[in-house]
Amino acid sequence: MTSDQHIAIASDHGGFDMKTELVPWLESQGYTVTDLGTDSPEAADYPDIGYKMAGVISKAKADTGILICGTGIGVSIAANRNESVRCALCYDETTARLARAHNDANVLALGARTLGIETAKDTIRRFLETDFDPKERYIRRRDKLGGAS
Ligand code: RB5
Repeated sequence: MTSDQHIAIASDHGGFDMKTELVPWLESQGYTVTDLGTDSPEAADYPDIGYKMAGVISKAKADTGILICGTGIGVSIAANRNESVRCALCYDETTARLARAHNDANVLALGARTLGIETAKDTIRRFLETDFDPKERYIRRRDKLGGAS
């Protein structure tokens, strides 16, 4: 993938500070970024955030999503309830690379309480720069999930 991707990013309050730092950084890398909120450190329920991202991805209004909550767990569970979403909770470059290459993940979930900002950036960079590996077995497994391809 290249930096002409349109990225949607969203967080709950647990990920708000990290999101605030990541948006200008992503833009500085050449990505078009749509910030879906939350817009303050006030409490925001992670299911609402995950569902909002799922709506954007399922309607193809962005190429890739980045979701952040305290652990990344809540937003990933919520987003994955939409069959168009393959949201992967990643915590380093290896999980990010394999989530794209093997699982064709279209949303990356990060934990703001479990990752430092530099690890988060490395994880995002690897996720955005890795293409799906179109081996027959990876396509077959992905397609068994249904939803978008
Ligand atoms: C919010 O306190 C926290 O539960 C949330 O950010 C997330 O970690 C849930 O999975």
